[in-house]
Amino acid sequence: MFNLKSKIILITGGAGLLGSRMVQTIQKHGGIPIVLDNDQKKIDKLKKNLKKINHSLAFYKVDITKKNQVKNTINKIYKNFKKIDCLINNAGFNPKMSFKSNKFENFSLEQWNKEIQISLTGSLIVTQEVVKKMINQKNGNIINISSDLGIIAPNQYLYEKNNKKPVSYSVVKHGVIGFSKYLATYLAEYNIRSNTLCPGGISNNQPKKFLNKIRKLIPLNRMAKINDYDGIILYLCSDYSSYMTGSTIVCDGGRTSW
Ligand SMILES: NC(=O)c1ccc[n+]([C@@H]2O[C@H](COP(=O)([O-])OP(=O)(O)OC[C@H]3O[C@@H](n4cnc5c(N)ncnc54)[C@H](O)[C@@H]3O)[C@@H](O)[C@H]2O)c1
Repeated sequence: MFNLKSKIILITGGAGLLGSRMVQTIQKHGGIPIVLDNDQKKIDKLKKNLKKINHSLAFYKVDITKKNQVKNTINKIYKNFKKIDCLINNAGFNPKMSFKSNKFENFSLEQWNKEIQISLTGSLIVTQEVVKKMINQKNGNIINISSDLGIIAPNQYLYEKNNKKPVSYSVVKHGVIGFSKYLATYLAEYNIRSNTLCPGGISNNQPKKFLNKIRKLIPLNRMAKINDYDGIILYLCSDYSSYMTGSTIVCDGGRTSW
């Protein structure tokens, strides 16, 4: 149904769990996914997992929090591909990074700063550079990945005592929605759209005890499968969403609706 017709689509954190699925979905529907990620091992793994790598795909190792690196990378991409149709701000802080405790009372400023730097400042830097090109083109499409936890607070009873959902996650995921709405109104006169997708949690080898607890909070009674977001990503990347901007799309098995 959706044809992405050689659309150049940049995905930050494109070598991660959700990003690599986006890469495959976009490629399958005629788009040209461009992966921006700072983890070479993950990039190599993704390259290996993709059955066929041809010209309709590219990888750039870049740290999105570094202005100069981002600027050079976006300039290179624009020179190579002559346009940028879509940017997906998807990169996120890896919660498995070892910090002592996620308890609010002791929450480290180091983690707070790191998470804001990747998820908000990183998105700002990439978007600024991409938007310069999109303004020249007089069109563009930006998709910002938030979370169901950009709409509701985490239910901390789900998590173990020393492994609570960190305050920074709520702050950045709510912030992404504000960022996206700001872009939508500021960039509308240049024919550039901006929307937010709030996905629910994806099932990814979590402990059975956790899965049994979380599914009771979700009307559809399960976490998301990785392919549950294919359709919404295609819709947002394609021209079928041409009249949509400033919107927040929640796709979470119903979790935020009760
Ligand atoms: N997985 C879920 O259940 C879930 C649920 C809701 C929302 N989300 C959101 O979806 C997005 C992707 O999540 P995921 O589960 O695929 O995470 P992930 O950790 O698998 O992927 C994130 C990617 O971002 C990259 N990255 C981190 N810092 C970077 C930097 N400074 N520069 C460039 N790349 C950087 C990592 O290398 C990684 O490949 C995140 O924004 C996350 O908050 C995920």
